Formats: sequence, structure tokens, C-alpha cells
Amino acid sequence: MTTTADQSLWLATAAASSRASLRGRERAEVAVIGGGIAGLTTALLLARRGMNVAVLEAGRVAEGASGNNTAKVTALQSTVYSTLAREHGTATATAYAEAALAGVELVAELAEPMNCGLQRRPAATFAMDADDVAIVRAEHEAAQQAGLPVEWTDSLDLPVPVHGAVRLPGQLALHPADYVRGLADALEAEGGRVLEDSRVRQVSAAPPYRVTTDEGSLDARTVVVATHYPILDRGLFFPRLEVQRSYCVAATLRSGKPPGELAISVGSPLWSFAAYEDRLILGGQGYPELGEFAARHFDVDEVTHRWSAQDPKAYDSIPIAGPYFPGARRLWVETGFGKWGLAMGTAAAAVVADGITGSVSPHRDLFSPQRISLKSAEKLVRQNTKVAKDFVGDRLAHADAKSTEHIAVDQAKVLPDGRGRKGVYRDREGELHAVSLRCTHLGCFVRFNAAERSWDCPCHGSRFDVDGTVLEGPATAPLPRRTP
Ligand code: FES
Repeated sequence: MTTTADQSLWLATAAASSRASLRGRERAEVAVIGGGIAGLTTALLLARRGMNVAVLEAGRVAEGASGNNTAKVTALQSTVYSTLAREHGTATATAYAEAALAGVELVAELAEPMNCGLQRRPAATFAMDADDVAIVRAEHEAAQQAGLPVEWTDSLDLPVPVHGAVRLPGQLALHPADYVRGLADALEAEGGRVLEDSRVRQVSAAPPYRVTTDEGSLDARTVVVATHYPILDRGLFFPRLEVQRSYCVAATLRSGKPPGELAISVGSPLWSFAAYEDRLILGGQGYPELGEFAARHFDVDEVTHRWSAQDPKAYDSIPIAGPYFPGARRLWVETGFGKWGLAMGTAAAAVVADGITGSVSPHRDLFSPQRISLKSAEKLVRQNTKVAKDFVGDRLAHADAKSTEHIAVDQAKVLPDGRGRKGVYRDREGELHAVSLRCTHLGCFVRFNAAERSWDCPCHGSRFDVDGTVLEGPATAPLPRRTP
């Protein structure tokens, strides 16, 4: 039996991406920051309309959420339609359905010439527990009213209890990392540039913009920030986004026959099911629960990969895509796709590409960063109360060890550091790594994430390696190192 790889199935099996980084001074008409689904789709659409585009990616293309997901491209997204209908009304739910379907079909069109395992599959939201049937009935009704061609069924191609399901035929499954790297290849074929290992540290205050990395700068009239969580605070998005983390495993099955539907259960605990070739893709809970659940319900031969990702979700459940701040015409943002970035990140990319080229997208108002939804205001207040607690609570937290002697291998502790505190991790070879605990974004205190061996910020989701390197933004600067 081999050990489970701590890497997504997608990144482990994708064609490698190895592109040059930004060096010296360069120029482009449009600079897109972020080489994931949203950024690369925007760049490709713009390049196809004749614009000179350069994409700047902090790591390698598809290494973020785009390569760490369940690979579902679907307009049926858990209970989004009943939530939207309740909080914003049927017109908003209908507009969302149209945008989501447009996103799915744009992925189908762009993926069609690529070698990325594209397949049509039905998607389903279902009740595993009889007590949850009413939730699924409400979703069926809301999705129908929003105009989706959904159907009701009492059975799914899944070896778990099904007490009723809403199903949407004709959605997509694909290899997301191959797809996103295919977008990068297609962009280059159109004359666009993709620069990797180019973490943006700064964007100048006004257009024409200068986008600066450690080794170079790019001058551009227009900038699109598609960094998953926006790296600039100019649009005050931080209070409007909540970061959610999710975990996934891939397993081979003795039958070689994984589920046929892209399915998600409602209620708690929630489970997410997908398939790629002969593998089951299971998500929704932490790693131990996923392994145990897979073994209980499926003929698991081996859990081959496990991975996790975090997704910013907007307080009103609708993605944010459009001008960065009121009146902005040269600075754009795409974020807040929840856990449905393949469809919604693509839909957002189309809205921004239309905005930049002067056409009006039918989804512009739905995704507008400047929208105000009074019905969601209460949620916004709750979200910010939580962030405020994280901010204050951490200031009151105390050191949990006096010296490094008490830190076991593969463990981290908070130690006193002068009048403050530092985080110290002992790696598997016994070496100590110490960093400041103050997040370089807006100053919340980071906490150790033992599953990922990283220092994570509870406020807006920045993540740092044990040596302080930025793993995920919005932070762009590393945690300062400390003496262990
Ligand atoms: Fe914003 Fe840490 S303070 S991510």
C-alpha cells in the first residue's frame, strides 16, 4: 500500500507549467494579477478581442484554488437558489441562474479543443437524511422558478442513502489543472504573456498603473485583480468576504466505477461527491472523516491524494466582479466565488472582459462590486463581528510554551518574544522555524494550521509557510522571521 500524497489529484497529474518570471521593466495594455480560472479566462477573452495582455501569477498557473477543488462545473450549487430567492427575491435568483449557466457553457466552449477530460454529467443536490428533504424540495422549487431545467428524483447513482434529490442534467466534469493550463497555452497562442513566480507586491495608486514584483515591474493602462482574495484594499472588500476552507480526497475503487453524478448533500455534515476517470473525489469534511466515510460507503482500494483549499465567499452569496471602486474604469476585481469558482469565476471573467472592452454584460449589475443588499446587511454585521473578535481575541491570547524544549517534532507553539509573541514550528528533521505572528495584511494574529503546516490568518484568509513565505493572499509580504 502506498501513502496518500499531500497534493491534489489535479496538480499531481497535470502537464507541468514552467514559465519565465517578470524581470526588468515591461509594458502591456492590460495586466491581470492571478493565474487561475478567473484571471486566465479574462485574459484570454481580452486577447481574443485584440488586446495586449500579460498575466502575473505568484506561483505556477493553477496552483491555487483552481487546481485544488472538486472539479465540478455546475449551475446547480448546493442550495444557492433557495438562499438567493429568500434573501434577494426570485429576480436575483433568476439572474444568478443565467450567469451560472453562461459560465458553464463558456467553460465547455473554451475546454472543447483542449485535452482536459471534458465530460457532460448531471449535477445533484440531495438529502442523505429524511429530515432534510424539505430543504431539497425548496431548492428544487427555487431552481425551477429561476429558470433552470431541473428535475426531481428519488434515487442517484451513489452508494449512500438518498431521500430525494434535485438534479440538473448537462453540467461538466473536467481535469481543472489541465483546463487552466490549457487556458494559459491558448492565451499565449493569441500573443498574450503568462509570467509565473511573479508575486505582485504593489500596484501604483492611479492609472497608468505600475505593477511591481520583486524582480520587475509592468506598466499597464488597465489592471484586473483576480487573486482569489483581492490583494488591494482600495475597494474595501475585506469586510464583505468570508473565507471558507474545504478538504478533499481522491480514492481508487475496486469496482473502478465511481459515482455518475456531481452531487452534494444538504444539512450537516455535508458531503460532496464527484468522479474523475476511475476515481472517487470526496469532499465536505476534514481528512479523517473523509477517509472513514469513503471506506464505509465505497469499495475503496486506496486513498491516493488529499488536498484542501480556501474560498472567499461574499456576504450575500453572489460573486463580486466589476470596477474596483465606484467610477473606476481602469482597475477591476473578480472574487467571492464561494466554492463554485469553475462556473462562477468564468462568468465573472466574462463580465469584466465585457466591461474593459466597453460592452455591457447582462450580468453586470448582479456581480457589481458596488451593489448594496439591505437584506444581507445583517449577515455582513455578523461576519465583521467575527473578524473583530479574531482581531481582539488574538491580542489577548497568551503564549502556550516558555521555551522551544516543549515543542515536539511537527508541532508549533506560541512563545514569548520580548514584549510580544512569536510562532515556532519544529519540522520533521528537528529544525526550528520562528516567525512573527502578526499578519502582514492588516495585522490580525495568525494561528497554526496543523493539517496544512501553515500559519493562517483568521481575518481574511492569508496563509504563510512555516518560514513566513506567503502561501495565499491577500497578504503580499512574508511574516518577518524571528530567532527561535
Ligand atoms: Fe487580513 Fe490577515 S489581516 S488576512
